[in-house]
Amino acid sequence: MRINWLYTILFAGIFIACDNDKVYLDQPLDLQLESALSKASETGDPSFFILPDSKDYQNIPQDPQNRITGAKVRLGNLLFFETGIANDPTHPDAKGTYSCASCHVPSAGFRPGAAQGVADGGIGFGENGEGRDKLSVYEEWELDVQGVRPLSVLNVAFVENTTWNGRFGSTGVNVGTEDRWELDHALEVNKQGFSALETQNMEGLEVHRMDITEEVLDDFGYRTYFDAAFGDWSADERYSKKAAAFAISAYLRTLMTNKAPFQEYLKGEKHKMTEQEKRGALVFFGKAKCYHCHKDKNLGSNDFYALGVNDLYQAGRVFDTSADDPRNLGRGEYSGKTEDMFKFKIPQLYNMGDAPFYFHGSSKTDLRSVVEYFNDGIPENPNVPQDQIARQFRPLNMTDQEMEDLTVFLETGLRDPDLNRFAPTSLPSGNCFPNNDADSRNELGCN
Ligand code: HEC
Ligand code: HEC
Repeated sequence: MRINWLYTILFAGIFIACDNDKVYLDQPLDLQLESALSKASETGDPSFFILPDSKDYQNIPQDPQNRITGAKVRLGNLLFFETGIANDPTHPDAKGTYSCASCHVPSAGFRPGAAQGVADGGIGFGENGEGRDKLSVYEEWELDVQGVRPLSVLNVAFVENTTWNGRFGSTGVNVGTEDRWELDHALEVNKQGFSALETQNMEGLEVHRMDITEEVLDDFGYRTYFDAAFGDWSADERYSKKAAAFAISAYLRTLMTNKAPFQEYLKGEKHKMTEQEKRGALVFFGKAKCYHCHKDKNLGSNDFYALGVNDLYQAGRVFDTSADDPRNLGRGEYSGKTEDMFKFKIPQLYNMGDAPFYFHGSSKTDLRSVVEYFNDGIPENPNVPQDQIARQFRPLNMTDQEMEDLTVFLETGLRDPDLNRFAPTSLPSGNCFPNNDADSRNELGCN
């Protein structure tokens, strides 16, 4: 009798379990994805991941000391591409040949299109920034290059502390690290108390050897743009690098990848994503747990982790970096703390497919390899101690199909196909951009 009872309960149990599973599997992909997105989002609602419209200035995160205005965005947009502000090169030959966009190329997803960015001292562009080389008069150490791959500036309004090690900005993770700003001249700018973008861009104009000169204002026609954007600033400040940095920051905050299929999907146009992209999204926000780290609206986050990827000096033809480049230490370079060593900021993930160089050291050259790296969970860089590696970085046991779906989600599901809307059609100076050296002019069709 008792045994019969047990059987009945057991059978009923199996039946219910199977039935539940079946109901789950029969759910349309959209419902499954919706439920995964709800669980993955901070607010419990998929709409959390919707990026604001580029013109919806009210709803874009910004520094209250630098409210976004149309006039600032217009000026910043031009300055970001303006080779005419390249006024402090190491050798006079390079004057007027480079811009911010030399290393943040729109068609390359606002990354350089090569393993490393080269501005002052560089020559050539290629088709997508991949053809940039060194001018022969420059020694390697004279180039404007860095020991990490340039980050994309897409969706950067959501980055609270900029650069791979988060060293800019006086808020966020840098609260309590004020003593670090005394150690390095380049970090003193944090003391001014602005957001990371304003802070970094003031320093960036300096680092990238740019200046706002009388020539820029009068011959290249920028004075009226500065007047329109900063009419309420004193004449001393109105035409300064600070004003330029503020305008560029306002512009950068409008770089939203809101035409990506995933964004259209979130806004209700479910057909804008293919079945495969949806399956890939389900892997990202489900089994592979990518969203545990890539969790903010831009699918990055202001946290730091070590994945043990190789550094830039190991990436083939790159300049002026080495095994002892301090940038290899990641957050640890900034904080000096052992626990931060080799940890890097979690980058945003839109338009990754536009340039085939991944991770801070450009150690991967296609997205499928990135996905396999996460799936294998085996660090490639022997210099990074095992106990620093993120504990989430471990084998994921994805099937080949899941890896393919995830790759396609990254490649096309998260790709805004129209980034050129963020580039000017021409500059008031008439200069060629993003580069203006003889080779680039040819390759960019400026002659
Ligand atoms: C020589 C190449 C180069 C040039 C020119 C360049 N950048 Fe960058 N940019 C980089 C690199 C490299 C990083 C990452 C730096 C790091 O992590 O230490 C970066 C990072 C950034 C970031 C931070 C993004 C984030 O998510 O943290 C911003 C913002 C930025 N650049 C804006 C600019 C602006 C504005 C200009 C022009 C004034 C400019 N860049 C010119 C190479 C360049
Ligand atoms: C433990 C946190 C964590 C998890 C989990 C994680 N990532 Fe990342 N991801 C990072 C960090 C940190 C970086 C930058 C590492 C570096 O360059 O040193 C990164 C970089 C990337 C990049 C390269 C971005 C660029 O600008 O080069 C891609 C693509 C990426 N992740 C996709 C994924 C996918 C897909 C998953 C899920 C399979 C995933 N990530 C899971 C933390 C994480």
